[in-house]
Amino acid sequence: MSEAFDLVLRGGTLVNQDGIGLGDIGVRDGRIAAIGALGQAPAGRIVDCAGLHLLPGVIDTQVHFREPGATHKEDLETGSRAAVAGGVTAVFEMPNTTPLTTDDAALADKLARARHRMFCDFAFWVGGTRNNAPAIPDLERLPGAAGIKVFMGSSTGSLLVEDDEGVAAILRQTRRRAAFHSEDEFRLRERLGERVPGDPASHPVWRDVAVALRCTERLVGIARSARARIHVLHVSTADEMAFLARHKDLASVEVTPHHLTLSADDYPRLGTRLQMNPPIRDAVHRGALWAGVTGGIADILGSDHAPHTLAEKAKPYPDSPSGMTGVQTLVPIMLDHVAAGRMSLQRFVDMTSAGPARLFNIAGKGRMAVGYDADITVVDLKRRETIRDGWIASRSQWTPHDGRAVTGWPVGTVVRGRLVMWEGEILGGASGEAVRFLEALQD
Ligand code: DOR
Repeated sequence: MSEAFDLVLRGGTLVNQDGIGLGDIGVRDGRIAAIGALGQAPAGRIVDCAGLHLLPGVIDTQVHFREPGATHKEDLETGSRAAVAGGVTAVFEMPNTTPLTTDDAALADKLARARHRMFCDFAFWVGGTRNNAPAIPDLERLPGAAGIKVFMGSSTGSLLVEDDEGVAAILRQTRRRAAFHSEDEFRLRERLGERVPGDPASHPVWRDVAVALRCTERLVGIARSARARIHVLHVSTADEMAFLARHKDLASVEVTPHHLTLSADDYPRLGTRLQMNPPIRDAVHRGALWAGVTGGIADILGSDHAPHTLAEKAKPYPDSPSGMTGVQTLVPIMLDHVAAGRMSLQRFVDMTSAGPARLFNIAGKGRMAVGYDADITVVDLKRRETIRDGWIASRSQWTPHDGRAVTGWPVGTVVRGRLVMWEGEILGGASGEAVRFLEALQD
């Protein structure tokens, strides 16, 4: 075979839709041009992947990169450095920035800021509000829009549609799958007194199971009447997992590495660093989320990377903001669960590549196939590392997993054929482009 490739990833173990096996990947013009035994085919660059596993690029569909508005915590560039340092090739970024991403001008502004300043590919969620509901058919189909995101309970920022009528007005307009932060604002308001000053362990008492379950029940009812598809972000309770199992025809489910890894037992050790919405709960819920992963109720993993500075986190609860970094630790934390036998490597790929592509109709990503974008996450399943704050590329520079020893590590990140990270080093310039979606293909 004498075809020339721009890049050949040689001799790795490919984890693909047809199984797991040794093979080479040849890349030309940013796309996968050949898969298989490529022999000595000429290539601009050959990367020896012997002993490593090659996964379809990991897509993190829930990150908060804070730009514009709170760039002392993160910006699109630093957030994307963290992403590729952790093996993530594309992110969907959330609309609770300042200004909010709720109209075409704000989306266009983010896209312009992101292009060739981000190291990974990107799409942006557009916040659904009472005011922009009539414009949703146009907004959700703009190039670079991941879809519509609604906060039904208040979290960081001012986006909020707490009532059934407001949510129905949005879901009557959406044709794409809309994403929801599902916590019942009315119950949250009633229970404000449950917060114990100085004690973040009271966070899951305030934002209790019923806060999450009631909202998710309401949301599914509204979606069914509106005949809309919904995506329930960061499901955190056994109760919602059991409920959503009966509604998989219209509802997809995200779980996060932090809800699968940490538990309420960690509040004494981590304090406000563990404070997150929806909260980290006791281990019974964590076990049920794992049952949702192995049983297939959960569709995808998202990190909900929500950085705040350590100075902000040092404020006494409840003045401390909710959120933690996560985009860089998603792959190593979950590979460690793979190493421990809690999930298979194929299921990991299903939840981070094929799953996002299936739920959100991503064009040309989500599997390793000829003609698809050459987005590859290269991992060493045997490598033992200890996650440290000092490794975190986010501007906020900390992780709740500081000190955690893991088996399995991202060693390379390829975005549309460009090697952007290898062995921890960020290589070359930022070349991130907007993710393309079937609903918004322009050419
Ligand atoms: O804890 C959270 N922080 N949950 C969210 O939904 C928002 C996020 C943030 O933006 O800080």
